[in-house]
Amino acid sequence: MPARIHEPDDATIAAAAARLAEGGLVALPTETVYGLGADARSDAAAAGIYAAKGRPAGNPLIVHVAAGAPPTAWVRSWTPQAARLADAFWPGPLTLVLAASEHASTTVRAGGDTVALRCPDHPVAQRLLAAFGSGIAAPSANRSGSISPTTAAAVATELAGAPGELMVIDGGPCPVGIESTIVDVSGPAPRLLRPGTITAEDVAACLGTPLEAAGAGSPAHPGSAPRHYAPGTPLVLAAPDELASAVAGAHATREPFVVLARAWPAGVPSTGGTLLELPGTLPELARDIYRLLREADGAGAARIVCELPEGSGIGMALRDRLTRAATPAG
Ligand code: TXA
Ligand code: MG
Repeated sequence: MPARIHEPDDATIAAAAARLAEGGLVALPTETVYGLGADARSDAAAAGIYAAKGRPAGNPLIVHVAAGAPPTAWVRSWTPQAARLADAFWPGPLTLVLAASEHASTTVRAGGDTVALRCPDHPVAQRLLAAFGSGIAAPSANRSGSISPTTAAAVATELAGAPGELMVIDGGPCPVGIESTIVDVSGPAPRLLRPGTITAEDVAACLGTPLEAAGAGSPAHPGSAPRHYAPGTPLVLAAPDELASAVAGAHATREPFVVLARAWPAGVPSTGGTLLELPGTLPELARDIYRLLREADGAGAARIVCELPEGSGIGMALRDRLTRAATPAG
């Protein structure tokens, strides 16, 4: 199926809202990554998302909601913790997991009794939510296990094989670049399920209570599988002080390789290697990392060597994504 990329004019938004209302799929920009959207109240519509992505049935979807009124219809109770976090961070890259009402389809919840809600900070996503008038279930618009798309063109590449013609709304490159932080506030203590650019420290400071790490008691979902966000080319990660030896090792194989780093390591020969320069700050790195991984993956190299960012907060979120991307399949 050819995906078709549309400019986000009013006619596109109206057509996209109509397609959602018919139970169809629409790929939409958010501030984090592009999503593959469907009517969150409809089992049949949500089933189309799983089919198009090749997504395991047990992995629930995030429901995107419009800015403004609290999304009380979707939850059993809009709790004080949820209200506090939404006041502080919505619209924005924070997803809240709460006890679900019957409003979200069973398929969206993957049969569970919680629902993940997020209010995206992107004008095109908000215009589509307003036009549609209800929640849009949307995972990242990639084939399951692959790299999340941060441009409309990357969505078209990822989902070229899905049935029907996919409507992709172009909102430009995503400014945040990695997926939202997910915090489960459905239990007695808030738990961090996925780190992101809104950091665990930010959330804990807002709530005045530390977050539990997702541990043994948390439901298994593929977003927490060891391998995720992965390029096809083998990926080798190196802390800054290990970069020179990792690049020297790649050079010694005599096969072509790509280096994702802030600079080529001093004293290491560059024959056979291509540098894709990483930006210096963590927010810029988050914005660019998936685009650069995609570019490195498309270069026809035998391996990719990537410098790991340091630090807590966004550094931790980036190490989480890169470590999963580097885990061998199988
Ligand atoms: O930034 C984002 O969150 C992007 C954009 C499109 O909004 N979406 C995204 O969706 O990353 P996805 O499906 O690729 O990742 C959502 C993660 C999955 O790991 C899923 O298991 C988890 O959220 N999730 C969804 N509903 C959940 C629930 N009720 N309880 C626990 N985890 C849930
Ligand atoms: Mg995803």
